[in-house]
Amino acid sequence: MSQATNQSWGGRFSEPTDAFVARFTASVNFDQRLARQDIQGSIAHATMLARVGALTDDERDAIINGLTEIQGEIERGEFNWSVPLEDVHMNIEARLTDKIGITGKKLHTGRSRNDQVATDIRLFMRDEIDVIEAELVRLREGMIELADREADTIMPGFTHLQTAQPVTFGHHLLAWQEMLTRDHERLLDCRKRVNVMPLGAAALAGTTYPIDRHVTAELLGFDRPAENSLDAVSDRDFAIEFTSFASILLMHLSRMSEELVLWTSAQFDFIDLPDRFCTGSSIMPQKKNPDVPELVRGKTGRVYGHLMALLTLMKSQPLAYNKDNQEDKEPLFDAVDTVRDCLKAFADMVPAIEPKKDSMYEAARRGFSTATDLADYLVRKGVAFRDAHEIVGQSVAYGLKTKKDLSEMTLEELQQFSATIEQDVFEVLTLEGSVAARNHIGGTAPDQVRAAASRARGALASLKGAA
Ligand code: ARG
Repeated sequence: MSQATNQSWGGRFSEPTDAFVARFTASVNFDQRLARQDIQGSIAHATMLARVGALTDDERDAIINGLTEIQGEIERGEFNWSVPLEDVHMNIEARLTDKIGITGKKLHTGRSRNDQVATDIRLFMRDEIDVIEAELVRLREGMIELADREADTIMPGFTHLQTAQPVTFGHHLLAWQEMLTRDHERLLDCRKRVNVMPLGAAALAGTTYPIDRHVTAELLGFDRPAENSLDAVSDRDFAIEFTSFASILLMHLSRMSEELVLWTSAQFDFIDLPDRFCTGSSIMPQKKNPDVPELVRGKTGRVYGHLMALLTLMKSQPLAYNKDNQEDKEPLFDAVDTVRDCLKAFADMVPAIEPKKDSMYEAARRGFSTATDLADYLVRKGVAFRDAHEIVGQSVAYGLKTKKDLSEMTLEELQQFSATIEQDVFEVLTLEGSVAARNHIGGTAPDQVRAAASRARGALASLKGAA
């Protein structure tokens, strides 16, 4: 087979492919990224063919040596990728035949590019999922450590982005951590369905050679051969599933990013991000911009786009393989790269977050964040909750007028609104008292946060690498 023209299916054609059509239908410019997995799959396939007697041991060895050399050429950037040869599969096969002659042409015995490409993508996804999982674990570990360290740090909790009740910074970080736990579970669940082997499905119906798919599956580390040949070459639901995981993860990272951006602003002033995660402005000398979280927030959109692209790609496709599926790669590659990079950025950045504790505390003191505590106090003294709500509402209105927080009012001032209020009220009006009182599983009390951090550490240790 020549490097310049694709003759692998030339036999039944009476004219060469139109030059534009050749370029239009070629995928080598992007699917060369699958070269390592393509070679890995081919080596396993040749090994299996020799085991069942479809290749001699010498033929197998020539093929494996040739492919190993080609792998080296690719890694060293010496491989000459050819667009007329269409895709990564035919480029590598043509080079193998150049190198080892006629034996190279035997490699494709009992398989098709349809099961080959589906296998390559699954191998690729499995490799990438493992890298992504490692970054996710690193991020989760750093987040749990920071949460544990900040279990006593008080900040305002928000609803509607209005000050609601005091919480601890550790509790807030553990909320993030819960989002990531579910993302982690989704990733590992997706990996189970990725790790099934299409090879042996051949073009669509299987093959007449006496192949042993269990051997190939084991050589490649797949859990099992795919059950049905038509399904094996056609569906890309595993890619959709990965991109769904990626979209939900990025949605979560965008929420965290948004909070980091708000918190670094002069208006919130809750945290500092080290300079290495920020950039300046070319015109405004005072600026320090939180580019990393902003960019992660922005990258969420492209991942959602890839999810839509893949869902739409698969929609209404009749069985079995269709050329449409060649379009799965670019969205998937970009989703993989984006998720990995965003997780790396976060895993590096989160442990470096510097909370400005005084500023957080001060913000929690403003905004009447202990108003619910006062209402609960009144209820404990026998006032009905609705009446207590009204009494506290009046106290807050008075505080707004006099610019005083509830804890800054004298007992006499508070008693204007209810004679039930006594000296012990000041214990519940402190921020420390407020958070410590929420002392149950899932609550913001510092002891609960420390216990939750320790459970999170245990759960992470048993989940990681569970695939
Ligand atoms: N480049 C193709 C893809 O990515 C490989 C499989 C092509 N098979 C075929 N019969 N044209 O899907």
